[in-house]
Amino acid sequence: MDKVGEDEKRLLEAALGAMRNAYVLWGFAVGAAVLAEDGKIYEGCNVESWVSGLGTCAERCAINHAILHGNRRIKKVTVVIDAKGKSEPKPCGACLQYIHDFAENSKIEIVMAKARNGEVSFETVKVKTLKELLPFPFRK
Ligand code: THU
Repeated sequence: MDKVGEDEKRLLEAALGAMRNAYVLWGFAVGAAVLAEDGKIYEGCNVESWVSGLGTCAERCAINHAILHGNRRIKKVTVVIDAKGKSEPKPCGACLQYIHDFAENSKIEIVMAKARNGEVSFETVKVKTLKELLPFPFRK
């Protein structure tokens, strides 16, 4: 388990709440929450479609939520997935690039955890910097 402070706890709980609203047809439930430049937390969930490319990941939903409220800089990201799935909680490549597009800088932390029985499983928490997960982002 990596270090979990008060900010991380609040973000993980917000991501867990969002995960409950995930619209799942063929995958698994994911929740995300971002800490934005106004100091508020914006959540998102994955929304699936039978045409997979039409859906969205939880992280991009959360960032779009922050942008809708006037925030274009993200200071921290959390992602929570249901432990029933076999996947590890981690933003996909497309989401890492999208996070990079709106991140304050590449040192921001990505906090990842599983949820078990409707609770954040704090012993599964992993924290990585954006740079560690996406060392070579696309830049124009
Ligand atoms: N998914 C996310 O929402 N975030 C991720 O970081 C990885 C994958 C979603 C996409 C799809 O709805 C489901 O999880 C299974 O791939």
